[in-house]
Amino acid sequence: MDNKHSDEKNRQLETFRSYDAGKKMTTNQGLNVSEDEHSLKAGLRGPTLMEDFHFREKMTHFDHERIPERVVHARGYAAHGEFELYESMKDYTKAAFLQEPGSKTPVFTRISTVAGSKGSAETVRDVRGFAVKFYTEEGNYDLVGNNMPVFFIQDAIKFPDLIHAVKPEPHNEMPQAASAHDTFWDFVVSNQESAHMIMWHMSDRAIPRSFRMMEGFGVHTYRLVNAEGKAHFVKFHWKPKLGVHSLVWDEAQKIAGKDPDFHRRDLWESIEKGDFVEFEFGVQLIEEKDEFMFDFDILDPTKLWPEEKVPVKIIGKMTLNRNVDNVFAETEQVAFHPGSVVPGIDFSNDPLLQGRLFSYTDTQLIRLGGPNFHELPINRPVCPIHNNQRDGYGRQAINVGQVSYHKNSLVNNTPTTSTEEEGGFVHYQEKVEGRKIQARSDSFSDHFSQARFFWNSMTLPEKKHIVDAFSFEVGKVKDKNVKQQVVDMFVNVDKGLATAIAEAVGVKHPEGKESDGFSTKEKRPRRNKESERIYTG
Ligand code: HEM
Repeated sequence: MDNKHSDEKNRQLETFRSYDAGKKMTTNQGLNVSEDEHSLKAGLRGPTLMEDFHFREKMTHFDHERIPERVVHARGYAAHGEFELYESMKDYTKAAFLQEPGSKTPVFTRISTVAGSKGSAETVRDVRGFAVKFYTEEGNYDLVGNNMPVFFIQDAIKFPDLIHAVKPEPHNEMPQAASAHDTFWDFVVSNQESAHMIMWHMSDRAIPRSFRMMEGFGVHTYRLVNAEGKAHFVKFHWKPKLGVHSLVWDEAQKIAGKDPDFHRRDLWESIEKGDFVEFEFGVQLIEEKDEFMFDFDILDPTKLWPEEKVPVKIIGKMTLNRNVDNVFAETEQVAFHPGSVVPGIDFSNDPLLQGRLFSYTDTQLIRLGGPNFHELPINRPVCPIHNNQRDGYGRQAINVGQVSYHKNSLVNNTPTTSTEEEGGFVHYQEKVEGRKIQARSDSFSDHFSQARFFWNSMTLPEKKHIVDAFSFEVGKVKDKNVKQQVVDMFVNVDKGLATAIAEAVGVKHPEGKESDGFSTKEKRPRRNKESERIYTG
């Protein structure tokens, strides 16, 4: 193995690889097979015999080859790589992989569309998932993000509704496209907190040129906690070394027809050629004392932290340098979970994040067939696992010993817990108080300020693309009332935008509200000075 292939995760995977080419065929019991083309029959023209165990085994395994696709993000592609730290983050976090400049951590990164099923086209207008598993010496850390910095909803309880609205409609299972149908736009107008995300979704960010040319965002506010127990709020960013580039809609549609695998092909071929894929890793940090310094709530996942107010500090680089050996074993069986953290990284009370902490293991229990999916090669941490969890379908570990409970007085050989000093994970002791209520701070209901900033930060060609996207997607909606509500909603972003949509989809022009003067007839790019830096990558 050469250097780039010799990281610890790769050495672990090597122990599971099966090199079958040129070998003698066996059954799953290891018996050499003499005949693999004709089943055993009673005479030349007779029925097949049950006794043919090789036929039965081969067919049974085939019959069980499929597992459920992910309930979202079904269409995805992944690669191995490494994360290298540029500067120590020890002032902010005690996470071991963020201490020593130059230290390297193996990673596995899966990029996906959200709405389409497993075989759908890759260049469709959609959010892209951006999930990274860091195999650290303290256990797996998963940063499960997207290529847009905000989200559609503010509370996890709405996620099933969002996805039911985004996925193909249940009565006729159409369309595959996320945003070109009545239920999607009906959800949007019924949940106006989606306004900011919809602006990103209708922008060129939703049709990336390549997986290598898009940003990634952790979206939620997390916490970094240092060895002294001091915490900072943090947002995570991935910045592509090649810059951010998008397709235009016409290209995206043509490519979807001609090469539905366009993005995976691009990623695979780049890595095969040795043209490795690089993303720099950045953090935005806010001190705990500054939690309430902003005119939005930093726990609100529909709001970003303006980069000119909270700059992104670049602290490392991820390089994707090795394609998978087997897409099913690795890309399909990988299980990411925003709750997989290491000491020094913790959660915030973002109500969307809190719900995600429940959802991922729950879905993987069915998708990956029971409680032992952490033993699948791609999911194994590179550090050892010791606990009293036992048995279940597909169990591989052979736990030795009489006792499988903690604590016990029979023997002294069951695993014991670690103190914080020994590296035990201790949850951040945030003080919480309040009544049990189903509401959030008032600023959660400001749905349009940042959506407007986004619009104002666009150049004229970008604005025209956004209008074209709205016109195409909303134009597919059959219900005229929903179309009208879209116009009435987005007049809160900009009157010129709403008027252009109204014209394109044939409903009444919006009333009231000021415009920044946008018109599709305008010739020269305009920028709003105040906000133009906010969204630059
Ligand atoms: C995948 C739930 C919001 C990023 C998934 C899966 C579920 C899920 C059930 C399938 C996991 C699997 O089968 O392994 C939820 C819920 C959310 C939510 C309940 C909100 C309450 C988000 C947000 C982001 C995100 C805000 C981005 C910050 C992803 C990604 C994947 C994924 C990247 C694909 C992971 C992979 O490649 O395997 N989500 N999600 N999700 N989710 Fe979420």
